[in-house]
Amino acid sequence: MTETNLKIPYHIGIIMDGNGRWAKSRGLPRHVGHTNGAKAMQRIVEACKKFGVKILTAYAFSTENWARPKEEVDFLMNLFAKYLKTQADKLIENKIHFKVLGDKSRFSKEIQDSMIKLENDTKDFDEFYLNVAMNYGAREEILKAVREISTDVKNGNLSIKDINADVFQSHLYTAGQNDPDLIIRTSGEQRLSNFLLWQCSYSEFYFPKIHFPDFDEEQIKLAIEEYTKRDRRYGKV
Ligand code: IPE
Ligand code: IPE
Ligand code: MG
Repeated sequence: MTETNLKIPYHIGIIMDGNGRWAKSRGLPRHVGHTNGAKAMQRIVEACKKFGVKILTAYAFSTENWARPKEEVDFLMNLFAKYLKTQADKLIENKIHFKVLGDKSRFSKEIQDSMIKLENDTKDFDEFYLNVAMNYGAREEILKAVREISTDVKNGNLSIKDINADVFQSHLYTAGQNDPDLIIRTSGEQRLSNFLLWQCSYSEFYFPKIHFPDFDEEQIKLAIEEYTKRDRRYGKV
């Protein structure tokens, strides 16, 4: 775990929630909320980059979200496919290092190919990192690490006494990245819904009441202002 006490959070995690309620409150179908949520995400990426944040992790689809009605899941898959296609050039142009957090294998071949291509095309950029958590679940991620570490032990490549937090971290999707300093969840819900459970152990939390499609640069500024008021003690006095 890296301890930071910078004024600007180095790593922000955002649980992009409230798309459906945003649409409902306007008498619109839920999918309109998702389309506007995708637009908000583009604003947030730009704002974080502008304010000097280094890593943004955006939670777009959880391992639990597959349980939604098929129509909504299909809409979201199309939206992801479109996002990956239309945003690729823009991310490359802006030198953004793109990474998917989650198990890609459950997506269509088309989506998997786009994800892998974009990860490859942006892998050398080191100015700004965008992680998009898709088919992501923290418990699944932790179990994946346990399975990989057990395999290393079984094969004689790792001894049990050498299993420590750094080794564990290196098996997570966020391997090599600092833990999030600030976690934002929009829409007023105050829960993590299986997001970054290992990585959040010393994160600050911020729960604005606003639904994600209304989130913008000003909201990111308010979140960072709130963060600067926090005193991160990491167990010390
Ligand atoms: C977040 O908005 C987007 C995803 C989980 C894909 P929701 O779709 O959860 O919106 P609400 O919470 O129902 O309003
Ligand atoms: C969490 O939101 C997942 C994402 C934002 C991608 P949900 O809307 O799925 O979470 P719950 O069901 O309210 O806990
Ligand atoms: Mg929700």
